[in-house]
Amino acid sequence: MDNKKTKKIVREAYGKIAQGQEGCGCGTCGPETIKFARSIGYSEKELKVIPPEANLALSCGNPTALASLRKGEVVLDLGSGAGFDCFLAASKVGAKGRVIGVDMTPEMLDKARDNAQKSKVRNVEFRLGEIENLPLADKSVDVVISNCVINLSADKPRVFQEIYRVLKPGGRIAISDMALLKALPKNIRESVEAYIGCVAGAVLVDDYKKIVGASGLKKVKTTVQSYSSCIDPETKDPIGRALLESLAPGKSLQDYVVSVYVEGYK
Ligand SMILES: C[S@@+](CC[C@H](N)C(=O)[O-])C[C@H]1O[C@@H](n2cnc3c(N)ncnc32)[C@H](O)[C@@H]1O
Repeated sequence: MDNKKTKKIVREAYGKIAQGQEGCGCGTCGPETIKFARSIGYSEKELKVIPPEANLALSCGNPTALASLRKGEVVLDLGSGAGFDCFLAASKVGAKGRVIGVDMTPEMLDKARDNAQKSKVRNVEFRLGEIENLPLADKSVDVVISNCVINLSADKPRVFQEIYRVLKPGGRIAISDMALLKALPKNIRESVEAYIGCVAGAVLVDDYKKIVGASGLKKVKTTVQSYSSCIDPETKDPIGRALLESLAPGKSLQDYVVSVYVEGYK
């Protein structure tokens, strides 16, 4: 899929998810979202500071835990969705710090801004924009976080160039994402549902490392986690169903997909 077409499909799909018209990539929408968040590393204490409406079970790790955020820091969340990690980051950087969420889907921004207003969180803002062309000045950010988003970009090298540009010297990244252990079967690779579900756009772990390394970031550390598939075999969610049905008998998504944590410094 070319870049423009991919973006249109992703934006439409996540617009529907934001409005509750379509299920989540992992088929875990609704009351199960808390359970899902616990399973990918969020503590009870952390979940208490995140408005429940910001948790759409669209994440694949807990980048904020990794980022060791400090009071007063400026944090940028790429593909902030309904604000899930932004609210957690906002509580960690405190009133003197600031969190900026960037997302290209207007419906997600509406939801995130609504969540911020209702929960009276003042040190967070949400900007409409693409992670390949960040609406931020050079050297303006201490920490870039992102959760299950960069796999959705058709131009990953550009995303990391942009991260490098907006980071202050000495700034750092803490990113959770999906990557591949081996190439996906053709039918999954070409499945629109698998793309939206954060699988078909993922690249091999080694290619991911090369892309991050080429951006100029230093001391890059990539930790591969086994992917705890959150898809209930009985799910009625259309994206989850399509993903399960595209697998050959006896194969599971864990055979191909892992979640990765990527750390690095400018
Ligand atoms: C899987 S969701 C993750 C949302 C959030 N990080 C979370 O953990 O809840 C992906 C989000 O990234 C956004 N997104 C995807 N591609 C993007 C791009 N190229 N630029 C900006 N946002 C993008 C989507 O609109 C969606 O909100």
